[in-house]
Amino acid sequence: MRNLNQDTITQAVMARFANTPDPRLKEIINSLVQHLHAFAREVRLTEKEWEQGIDFLTRVGHKCDDKRQEFILLSDTLGLSMLTVAMNNDKPDGCTEATVVGPFHVEDAPHYEHGDDVGNGAVGQPCSVRGTVRGLDGKAIAGATMEVWQADANGLYDVQLPDYAHASARGILKSGPNGEFHFRSILAESYPIPHDGPVGEMLIATNRHPWRPAHLHFMIVAEGYETLTTHVFRNDDQYLDSDAVFGVRQSLVTDWTQQADGSWLVDYDFVLNPVAA
Ligand code: BEZ
Ligand code: FE
Repeated sequence: MRNLNQDTITQAVMARFANTPDPRLKEIINSLVQHLHAFAREVRLTEKEWEQGIDFLTRVGHKCDDKRQEFILLSDTLGLSMLTVAMNNDKPDGCTEATVVGPFHVEDAPHYEHGDDVGNGAVGQPCSVRGTVRGLDGKAIAGATMEVWQADANGLYDVQLPDYAHASARGILKSGPNGEFHFRSILAESYPIPHDGPVGEMLIATNRHPWRPAHLHFMIVAEGYETLTTHVFRNDDQYLDSDAVFGVRQSLVTDWTQQADGSWLVDYDFVLNPVAA
């Protein structure tokens, strides 16, 4: 095929993928080619802009290592992560909604018992977290595995600390016989997503801020139920309507109350969706 021009090249590229054996891969590549070409046509992409785009993506890749995932940050700040979460977690009314996992979930967090201090030395005001895990039918779910993780008062997750030596403000608990859970940690505070890389440059160039409203992350796994990856947000946060990664759901926003001794308390009940029989 020769002499392709701006009107014929899209079909020619798609034809070149015609023998892709995996039908899903074929569908995705064909759609990607069509949308990329349509995008370039729509904005009449110049060669200089194409080079800038390649340079940007190259720098996104170079910024990634085992502790920093700049591509996830890019996906998050473009709303692609939340779109994917929303499309794949369309649960019945009454179930706790899902939101983005973010780049700071780690495997092998330490295990804790009810009442333990998951903060484990993290900087922040003391905060107790309690609630229940139930199914959509209202039945308590005993023995659900709950992973929790959060940033400290300086806005940093343990893995971001320069002298990171042990897990802090993250842990794994099991719900009790009545689906209940209770642990101590630190008060969640709003924090900026990492913005010292190309994604930060994009935010500056587009007059956007990098802040996320205060939240606790949860990942809850229970047999017979869909795994729930979500947050619980503080209702007094100034960034609830402008989350840098578009992750806020009103149903996940709740009161965090200050107690007489100055510590904080948040009480939140999770409702899991049973897996289809
Ligand atoms: C987080 O909440 O941990 C997070 C989510 C998206 C990007 C950066 C951080
Ligand atoms: Fe977070």
